[in-house]
Amino acid sequence: MERLNVADDLNGWVSSADAWIASIGEDGDWTRRTFLDAAMLGRAKVHEGRFLDIGCGEGRFARKLQEFGFKGVGIDPVDQFIKEAQKRDPDGDYRIGIGEKLTFEDASFDLTISYLSLIDIEDFRAAIKEMTRVTKPGGSILVANLTGHFTAGKWERGEHGDGQKFVIDNYHEERANREVWSGIDVINWHRPMSAYLEAFLTNGLILRHFFEPTPPDQNDPKSDRYTRVPGFVVMEWEKPKEMKA
Ligand SMILES: C[S@@+](CC[C@H](N)C(=O)[O-])C[C@H]1O[C@@H](n2cnc3c(N)ncnc32)[C@H](O)[C@@H]1O
Repeated sequence: MERLNVADDLNGWVSSADAWIASIGEDGDWTRRTFLDAAMLGRAKVHEGRFLDIGCGEGRFARKLQEFGFKGVGIDPVDQFIKEAQKRDPDGDYRIGIGEKLTFEDASFDLTISYLSLIDIEDFRAAIKEMTRVTKPGGSILVANLTGHFTAGKWERGEHGDGQKFVIDNYHEERANREVWSGIDVINWHRPMSAYLEAFLTNGLILRHFFEPTPPDQNDPKSDRYTRVPGFVVMEWEKPKEMKA
């Protein structure tokens, strides 16, 4: 395959699309299937109306929301993901788009979602501003993200070759990280938690829910990775009713 440059490759997402679709399957990867979907759906179901899923990938979560009666739109910059989403859900609404510049009118959605996509969005501050703009006053923004602790660290062998340690370094320095797993090779951004929180607060949003989901079964060896260190965060931010669109 001809090598694409970083911008055309959307930070690895175009050339990783096949591997991503395979890793997600029908039910999501292990973290989504085992505990993240439950955390996100639990909050989504408190709401009703029209949703926007930003960075929807191949559309799995948008399909799930529709099973629960929501109607809405999924956007993603990767053509292959949008085509796959349309193939799997011909009646659904999936469009090419980026989080930093949404093509929707102000106050178009009751529930705006970013499910593990903020870490992939280069200008996350612009994206949060846009998310706020397109959400209706009184509506909510529901986010699942990797914690800043997780994106600043990596697992390393213990000093004597025994056991693994999670080592965090340069926590306060925002930066791009190359992440490679299961044939996927993409850029993720590390930002300290305060950078995200400040961006939501600066837009006048109110934090209504904050949760650090963990796997339910501690006997599953895969759980260890997400209970020993802070892995994921789920946040729900409300756009105040009195805020102008
Ligand atoms: C880790 S995947 C998550 C996909 C899906 N939300 C899920 O949970 O299965 C991140 C997604 O963000 C998308 N993405 C990358 N840059 C983006 C941008 N600037 N705006 C919106 N989405 C972007 C990628 O194409 C990819 O589909």
